[in-house]
Amino acid sequence: MAASSSLPVVIWALLLLLLVEAFAPATAAAAASPSKRPAHQPPLFPELDHFTFTPNSSHLFSQKYLLNDTFWRRKPNAGPLFVYTGNEGEIEWFTTNTGFMFDIAPDFGALLVFIEELDHFTFTPNSSRVFSHKYLLNETFWRRKPTAGPLFVYTGNEGDIEWFTTNTGFMFDIAPQFGALLVFIEHRFYGESQPFGNDSSQSPDTLGYLTSTQALADFAVLITSLKQNLSAVDAPVVVFGGSYGGKVNNVVVFWLLFLVLASWFRLKYPHVAMGALASSAPILQFDDISSWSGFDDTVTQDFKSESLNCYSVIKAVWDVLDDRGSNETGLLELSKTFRTCKTVHSADSLTNFLYTAFTYTAMTDYPTPANFLQNLPAYPVKEMCKIIDSFPAGADVVEKAFAAASLYYNYTGDQKCFQVEGGDDPHGLSGWGWQACTEMVMPMAVSNESMFPPFGFSYEERSKGCLANYGVRPRMHWITTEYGGHKIDKVLKRFGSNIIFSNGMRDPWSRGGVLKNISSSIIALVTEKGAHHLDFRSATKDDPDWVVEQRRQEIEIIHGWIDQYNKDIAQM
Ligand SMILES: *[C@@H]1O[C@H](CO)[C@@H](O)[C@H](O)[C@H]1NC(C)=O
Ligand SMILES: *[C@@H]1O[C@H](CO)[C@@H](O)[C@H](O)[C@H]1NC(C)=O
Ligand SMILES: *[C@@H]1O[C@H](CO)[C@@H](O)[C@H](O)[C@H]1NC(C)=O
Ligand SMILES: *[C@@H]1O[C@H](CO)[C@@H](O)[C@H](O)[C@H]1NC(C)=O
Ligand SMILES: *[C@@H]1O[C@H](CO)[C@@H](O)[C@H](O)[C@H]1NC(C)=O
Ligand SMILES: *[C@@H]1O[C@H](CO)[C@@H](O)[C@H](O)[C@H]1NC(C)=O
Repeated sequence: MAASSSLPVVIWALLLLLLVEAFAPATAAAAASPSKRPAHQPPLFPELDHFTFTPNSSHLFSQKYLLNDTFWRRKPNAGPLFVYTGNEGEIEWFTTNTGFMFDIAPDFGALLVFIEELDHFTFTPNSSRVFSHKYLLNETFWRRKPTAGPLFVYTGNEGDIEWFTTNTGFMFDIAPQFGALLVFIEHRFYGESQPFGNDSSQSPDTLGYLTSTQALADFAVLITSLKQNLSAVDAPVVVFGGSYGGKVNNVVVFWLLFLVLASWFRLKYPHVAMGALASSAPILQFDDISSWSGFDDTVTQDFKSESLNCYSVIKAVWDVLDDRGSNETGLLELSKTFRTCKTVHSADSLTNFLYTAFTYTAMTDYPTPANFLQNLPAYPVKEMCKIIDSFPAGADVVEKAFAAASLYYNYTGDQKCFQVEGGDDPHGLSGWGWQACTEMVMPMAVSNESMFPPFGFSYEERSKGCLANYGVRPRMHWITTEYGGHKIDKVLKRFGSNIIFSNGMRDPWSRGGVLKNISSSIIALVTEKGAHHLDFRSATKDDPDWVVEQRRQEIEIIHGWIDQYNKDIAQM
């Protein structure tokens, strides 16, 4: 095959050369850049289309593949699949020119498969469209000599980048000792990085470009360009990612967080990032890899561990809400109890209001006061349960639950009323609903033992809901196809390195995380009492020893990666 396909390859190479020549003058003119760079970077223009989910991209085509099972051994254990991924030409042509596979198949008892791929990343005319991609730099601590200090890159997730920047104090805390350049990159379709301006989220035609694969490609393009511009091509890059939460629709609160990008980036772009710290990354919350009820089981456990009464009160409130909310008078009463700004139309919104308060509080059950999603005291779950337990035994469960939820919504006491229906989106999370309806299908269910009303997950229901809301159907198993996840320990043991998965077991997302070491350089750091990406927060004088120790280990491991990397580079 090598000989027969060499002609087209040469032609393509020539064409590319011609194209590069044609565009060279423009590029050179733009390259004259000022030496001082502002903290707020000018927008970068990455390509819009890496992978799409536009309506037409779910267009099916008959993909041709050939099988030859002459040599395939099925027993006692199945022989391997030898797969030839087709390229530019008819698949038969390659088959007849890939004799090597046929020659060795008998030795392996192999099944031969020849596949021709059509569209994974496209090159249609519109895919060369560009958009302004926002990123922030902080060079205060960057060492340029004798060898350039590392780039610590925060791969943005579902929300605007400033919000994450102010909640990732850990990177600022450790930058001085590493001489690191801090880079925070926004995720496309969030914050100001809107590829189609204000119309970005208007239709599947535009939202189709909101995918994790596109976002990772953006990061790769941006980091590569940035390193060139800074004349720091050899500087090591470590990516940091954390996961955050959001609320999608008004009926059910979906759990939409993902901080999975850093680890996926390391696996997909090992030549761009030499290491990743993925904090609270539920990369196993897909398919049936982790328990579907793990998230809610953990929230329930967090509250139960504080007080059994607290758990029972919360468990009892849902039926009472439904019951009272079944008529107009009841809704009026409930609206008063909940101090809603407007009378609510349905008890479901109050259910949501409470559900959000309890789950987010479990996520952010930090040992010190914090203001991430909301202003909260230290150990807020314990505080909520204290509020519930302080009521006299016969008091109304709805009053109790509302008082507890007020800790989450109104710890500072400045809220006069609560916007329970049709609220705003202070952190720009709205794109998550789309992602949950395309690739991020995280099956989540609530079991009977939960303090929340039980519900099941059904692929069919999700698919219907997504079609109704967005006009698309999710690709249910795309994430595990693209990034893996099944038998992750066995897979990553032989492939991949330099990843830290950190998790706190009080964080509901920990149940979908990697909790055991996979190899000597793919490490799980787990704290029993930790919450959602607690390690990424700024150090404070009140931090318990176990957080201090977790961060110390992270720093030590990253130092090890960078030393190794610099040695490898020095030998080149
Ligand atoms: C960079 O971070 C340091 C430490 O937080 C801060 O003092 C400085 O103002 C930041 N610089 C810019 C340009 O934001
Ligand atoms: C989508 O496909 C339809 C039918 O195949 C075609 O008419 C239309 O132009 C396509 N739209 C885009 C945006 O490619
Ligand atoms: C499979 O390959 C063997 C060896 O080249 C050949 O004899 C056989 O005809 C092939 N089978 C099919 C179905 O093409
Ligand atoms: C390509 O972009 C142009 C202008 O932005 C638009 O009018 C056209 O419909 C787009 N075509 C496709 C196939 O998306
Ligand atoms: C986009 O929306 C913002 C806020 O609503 C508005 O200020 C801005 O002018 C709009 N931009 C365009 C191009 O319409
Ligand atoms: C690098 O410089 C080029 C030319 O000035 C510019 O177009 C590009 O956006 C810069 N890259 C980054 C990451 O800022």
